[in-house]
Order: sequence, then C-alpha cells, then structure tokens
Amino acid sequence: MTRPLVTVRPAAAADAHTLAALAIQVWLDTYATDGVNDLLGRYVLSTFTPAAFAAWSESPDVALQVAHANGHLVGYALLQFGAAQPLAPGRDTELRTLYVQSPFQRSGVGSLLLREARSAAHARTGSDGLWLTVNVQNLRACAFYEKHGLAATGLTQFVLGEARHDNHVMATPRN
Ligand SMILES: CC(C)(COP(=O)(O)OP(=O)(O)OC[C@H]1O[C@@H](n2cnc3c(N)ncnc32)[C@H](O)[C@@H]1OP(=O)(O)O)[C@@H](O)C(=O)NCCC(=O)NCCS
Repeated sequence: MTRPLVTVRPAAAADAHTLAALAIQVWLDTYATDGVNDLLGRYVLSTFTPAAFAAWSESPDVALQVAHANGHLVGYALLQFGAAQPLAPGRDTELRTLYVQSPFQRSGVGSLLLREARSAAHARTGSDGLWLTVNVQNLRACAFYEKHGLAATGLTQFVLGEARHDNHVMATPRN
C-alpha cells in the first residue's frame, strides 16, 4: 500500500478534539503496557483535554504543530518557549510532546515533526536548541532522539500517583 503524503502545519483550535484523542491513544499505547487502571485513566483524561489543546493552539508561549495525511491527524509536536532547564542551560525551549500514531511510526513522521519544531523554535527565539524529558525505559524514543543529535544531560523524575519514573533530560548540543 502506498503511504499517504504527510505534511505539517500549525494546529488550530478546531483540531482540539482530534488532538486530545490522538494524544490519549499514543500515551496509552506507549506507557500503559500492563493495561489501564484508574490512575492512568484519570491522568490521560485530565491531561489531554480538548480545552488544553485549544488553549495551546492559541498561546503565544507554545508552538503546536500537527502532522496530517489524507485529512487525518497522525502526530503532533508541542513546544514550550521560555522553559529554563538547569540540566540543559542555554536551551530554553522544551519539546513537551512529540507523538506519532502507531501505524505512522517508523516512516519519517517523527523526524519531520522534530525538524519543523526546531525550525519554529529558531523562528521564535533565534535558536533551534531544545531540551526534553523522556522515560528511560522508552528505548525507541531515546534511540530516535540520539539519532537526531540530542544527548542525555541528566535525570529527572515524572511523578504519577505514588510512583516515580526516571526520565532522561535530553538536549541538543550547546551552541
Ligand atoms: C519516538 C517517535 C516520536 C519517533 O517517531 P517516528 O515517526 O517513529 O520516527 P522516524 O520514523 O522519523 O525515525 C525513525 C528512527 O527513530 C528510531 N526509532 C523509531 N522507532 C523505533 C523503534 N521501534 N525501535 C528502535 N528505534 C526506533 C530509530 O532511530 C529510527 O531510525 P531508523 O528507522 O533509520 O532505524 C514515535 O515512535 C512515537 O511517537 N512514539 C510514541 C510516543 C513517544 O514515545 N514519544 C516520545 C516521548 S518523549
């Protein structure tokens, strides 16, 4: 089957419900590997809301870009500007999220979104440098970021309920 052409554009408020559904799907697919429980259900439904995506699409402090193909969204990237990270000094843009829907993974969509995100960061701040956090067990994402020149600069933790999950802080090289 020929893959549809995937292109990237800035998100609009009208994408909010689609993005919320996409984000929940990718998050659960990635992290709910033992199944879904009350904690995970509450987390995704309170974090990835249409209202949050609508606000992000209109905020001057973030850049939200979507990958689309054949009238459907297949991934998105969310950048936060002015987000200082002590473990990545000098790179004040955070890549908060980079999600590609499973059937579209491993076909260049994540790379396209990352490239567009860095270009949006450059247009906004004059630097395409950025940092992010990624679960240390998310090996495919770690491999993806390393392939794109990011390196681990330290560890942080993501707290969900009683559990603490180690995350790498990864960053582009310092200019
Ligand atoms: C991480 C993610 C964004 C990568 O996007 P993608 O569209 O699959 O990546 P691309 O096709 O552009 O790049 C592929 C490269 O990424 C790495 N990669 C992607 N999937 C991989 C996998 N399953 N196993 C190992 N490496 C993988 C490899 O380096 C690969 O290069 P190769 O194909 O030449 O070997 C995507 O897998 C994703 O959305 N995962 C779920 C959500 C997530 O983990 N997001 C990041 C959290 S911070």
